[in-house]
Amino acid sequence: MKKIGIMTTGGDCSGLNAVIQRIYRGATLRGWRVLGILDGTDGLCTTPPRVIEFNEDTLPVEFARMAGSLLHNGRPQALNFETAAETGRLAYFNKQLRKSLNELKLDALILIGGNGSLSLAWCNRDIYSGLQLICIPKTIDMDIPLTDRTIGFNTAVQQLTSFCDQLMLTARSHHRWFVVQTMGRDCGQLALNAGIAIGASAILIPEIKFDINALISHIKNAPRDYGIILASEGISLRGHSGRPADMISRKLTAAGITNRTAYPEHTQRVGDTTAADRILATRFADCALNAIANNETYVMTAINDCECKTVSLNDFFNSGYVSTDPNIPDLQTSDAYVSPDDPLLDIAHDMGIYIGESK
Ligand code: F6P
Repeated sequence: MKKIGIMTTGGDCSGLNAVIQRIYRGATLRGWRVLGILDGTDGLCTTPPRVIEFNEDTLPVEFARMAGSLLHNGRPQALNFETAAETGRLAYFNKQLRKSLNELKLDALILIGGNGSLSLAWCNRDIYSGLQLICIPKTIDMDIPLTDRTIGFNTAVQQLTSFCDQLMLTARSHHRWFVVQTMGRDCGQLALNAGIAIGASAILIPEIKFDINALISHIKNAPRDYGIILASEGISLRGHSGRPADMISRKLTAAGITNRTAYPEHTQRVGDTTAADRILATRFADCALNAIANNETYVMTAINDCECKTVSLNDFFNSGYVSTDPNIPDLQTSDAYVSPDDPLLDIAHDMGIYIGESK
């Protein structure tokens, strides 16, 4: 019988519980024992480590739709790779992790994390040398290379779409524009996908340069006098500081365009997990369990062209994670970011959406 641990690290997103529930289910059917580690790496830093064991009552199938993580993602003052490195306690932190993992006698650890967590796991891989490390990519930003999809992205697109659908009605009533600031860090995938879904008038993303005067003239010449401009949080405007939506809004106001700003913020990370994310969660969970059965380690589950398989963490790391974290070596490009050849850019352009100076 194998004993496996699961933990969720980094920011939460919808779909984490779906992964946890499906791992629990699949592992139980294989006769394996599952321990949930609480609060990400923080749960391994205490003595004894903080873990819970699931059963059919504590993890019923209907919990798969819930946002957040039943295992939590880390307490505010938690010790993790980043805070440990910042405060010079990395050696202590690594020792604690290794000690707790030894104590728990795990055969495998499934780490559900974003690109920061996965990169840090690879950079500090010695900690996991006594067990199999299998990662599952999750993030609403969809900035993880080597996989077409990440857990939580589809639900985030849906949440943002629903938010904007509502705003569109009040925009129409008042003949005015809304500048909506989306999450996504330096990656424009969330804004681009939701923008197409809602029929935005403009989508501004970090990967594509835009011209404020071109945007203003696009809005002034639009076939209607209301609509939504999506501004991804990673964009910037030369000579301006502050929140991107505010700076765009000020420019529009100065040009005589009546507008308001809106910030969906963390509502993008919650919401009932969509069917697509639940299916992805089930496929990733199954793939991770098969990887454990096949004695794989240092791998990440990935889906490409509808095929789900594992890719090595080495390949993930070297394929170009864009890092703003001084503790992670800085690699500059990533296939996950919106590339100039992304077909959605052409589609947006053909639909009369201002997408910046890509064309
Ligand atoms: O990486 C996920 C994400 O939601 C980003 O899109 C956003 O910039 C950030 O996390 C917000 O982090 P926090 O919850 O710490 O404010």
